[in-house]
Amino acid sequence: RPGAVVVVGSLNIDLTVRTERFPQPGETLTGSELFTTPGGKSSNQAVAASLLGSQVRLAGAVGNDRNGAFLLQAAVEAGVDVSAVRQLDDHATGSAMIVVASGGENTIIVSPGANGALVPAMVDPAALDGAAVLCLSLEVPLATVQAFAQAAHDRGALVLLNLSPYREVPARLLELADVLLVNRAEAALVLGTDLQDPDWAEVLQRFGRRGVHRAVVTLGAEGAVVLDGTGPDNLVTSIEPVPVTAVDTTGCGDAFMGAIAHRLAAGATLVDAAHFAGRASALAATAPGAQSSYATFAQLR
Ligand code: RIB
Ligand code: NA
Repeated sequence: RPGAVVVVGSLNIDLTVRTERFPQPGETLTGSELFTTPGGKSSNQAVAASLLGSQVRLAGAVGNDRNGAFLLQAAVEAGVDVSAVRQLDDHATGSAMIVVASGGENTIIVSPGANGALVPAMVDPAALDGAAVLCLSLEVPLATVQAFAQAAHDRGALVLLNLSPYREVPARLLELADVLLVNRAEAALVLGTDLQDPDWAEVLQRFGRRGVHRAVVTLGAEGAVVLDGTGPDNLVTSIEPVPVTAVDTTGCGDAFMGAIAHRLAAGATLVDAAHFAGRASALAATAPGAQSSYATFAQLR
């Protein structure tokens, strides 16, 4: 029986407007109507894994407000256990201001709200009970990310760490990650090197020197690459892209991570999990919004 997927981190209300192109500094553009949809990296990852069939628990914080109630309801409808999500009286629910241009590309500014108040003591360690896989990203305080990475590691759960939104993290946190999930820009930032046309074997070595022995680098429309230095050979595996017409790529990275977590919790290899995740995230690009574009297992088939 597959173990549970636990996600500790953020929930945001996504406020999205579509435009032909992104505005210039100082420019005002008229966009589409405003779309209000459930988001936040961790909440997205939890919903993605749950829709695929995993048993998922989400731990985090929202405000005691309408947006918070809306997010909790959306997660519950997707089958996520939200009993470890706190509702805080003195913070607003986190929100994300999203602009989607006609090619499906987006820019996002997050206002953390309650996510920023998620100190380690706010999360019951029992949230990790039964966890096979823990998903972490960087929309909540680093102290919380690190505390749960350590706790999951101590319990023998697999720690997946997504360095988004990018910031520098303690060396120890990188070491605690069993699998690092990054896009090309984040990989370049964490390694301090240019990755335009990289030699992936060398990238894997660089990661290894930082204590990261398994990483998946997502490359947008070019697919992804799985780097694995845990075996006798250093393995570099390309995950071919699934060609789709992108409508809205918001949350595709989270769909990818949720799908990887789902497969790893069921005992799949990292390469198999990444192939599966590539299909889940490609499908998510074909519909508007983050969670609102995620597929069930049957739909993915
Ligand atoms: O990764 C996509 C997510 O980033 C959005 O749902 C938004 O809330 C921001 O957190
Ligand atoms: Na989408």
